[in-house]
Amino acid sequence: MLGTTRIIQSSDKPDLFSFKNIRLDFPILEEKVHGKQLVYLDSAATTQKPRVVIDTLRDYYEKCNSNVHRAVHYLGEKATRGYESSRKSIAQFINAEDVREIVFTRGTTESVNLVASSYGRTFLKPGDEVLISYLEHHSNIVPWQIVCNQTGAQLKVAPINDQGEIILEEFKKLLSPKTKIVSIAQVSNALGTINPLEKMIPMAHDVGAVVLVDGAQAASHMSVDVQKLGCDFYAFSGHKIYGPTGIGVLYGKAHLLEKMPPYHGGGEMILSVTFEKTTYNEIPYKFEAGTPNIAGAFGMQAALKYVSGIGLDNIAAYESGLLQYATLKLSRIPGLKLIGTAKNKACVLSFTLEGIHPHDIGTILDREGVAIRTGHHCAMPVMQRFGVPATARVSLGIYNNREDIDIFVEALLKVGEIFR
Ligand code: ALA
Repeated sequence: MLGTTRIIQSSDKPDLFSFKNIRLDFPILEEKVHGKQLVYLDSAATTQKPRVVIDTLRDYYEKCNSNVHRAVHYLGEKATRGYESSRKSIAQFINAEDVREIVFTRGTTESVNLVASSYGRTFLKPGDEVLISYLEHHSNIVPWQIVCNQTGAQLKVAPINDQGEIILEEFKKLLSPKTKIVSIAQVSNALGTINPLEKMIPMAHDVGAVVLVDGAQAASHMSVDVQKLGCDFYAFSGHKIYGPTGIGVLYGKAHLLEKMPPYHGGGEMILSVTFEKTTYNEIPYKFEAGTPNIAGAFGMQAALKYVSGIGLDNIAAYESGLLQYATLKLSRIPGLKLIGTAKNKACVLSFTLEGIHPHDIGTILDREGVAIRTGHHCAMPVMQRFGVPATARVSLGIYNNREDIDIFVEALLKVGEIFR
């Protein structure tokens, strides 16, 4: 694994040079697209995978594949050990107090749905309120709409300003003893805004609400400490942190998970079953019905080890430099409007180009080998707030560098020439 030879020592200052060779760990970056070298600028949709993650998945299927928590045979025990060891790594990665607080899910979306269905359906009643914000991804809107419809609770939405920041005074005004759940993204997928959770979570707790943090876009960009944050639930996905698709995490405080009913019924989540009565397994197994994504858990552990080796603080510092560089370059392009100019931002640049539909931008960039996302980014209310049907979005990861941004900007200038 190339990454191990280059791990940055904590005494090293992160700089462009330290990250220079990271892209060599990502085989896909060697791909040619329409005859051009791939420039991948869509990490908010999914990150590419380092060789160590790809090798871990192949090794798992070649040397370990078996079901977990079921068999006494060698492979069954090996798979179970690896699966549970991954859970431990995840607990350490986000500094959970107790490994039982880590539930494996398919991803952030399932984690939010789990809390909405299990906690929400059990504890919400008519007159209660759930508070989200205008910045949320559909995955952090729709599950709450469903549970509000089912329980008679009301959904409240905190507004954002023209920079794409939650207006804290308005957020505070919407909080009251009626607020039972607050569910907020740590980083907006559409705009990149980093929300001031250190202020918002205590405000929510002051009125007695529990807080879920959607960390899908945060966990790969900054170090996450759930105890320091003080959140009650934290959701994130493997595939957005250089791991496999189909695996994710719900962190929940043990005392909350314990009082929540199962979300799915089936194998693994029971202690005993008769036709008269089923007793449920303890946490976290109570929430893990059916054969889980075992290979995914192995791959996620490899991914977390990989990013931890680089260091989340180093990643944050490196990406902040890239963001500044890209923001400056984009600000010089005639007709380009950045949507989302929050003071505190992660590596996401959403923009429109006067007179050109974002899909046309995306298609022409693709011909140049540059992959970006265009559309509403599963955040239609954000688009409505800014009065645009869609944006073009560049999102950066650890393998990107200034050269990628230069190639992208050059290609974007060509888009302008074609349409004018
Ligand atoms: N939520 C992912 C994105 O922002 C898919 O692109």
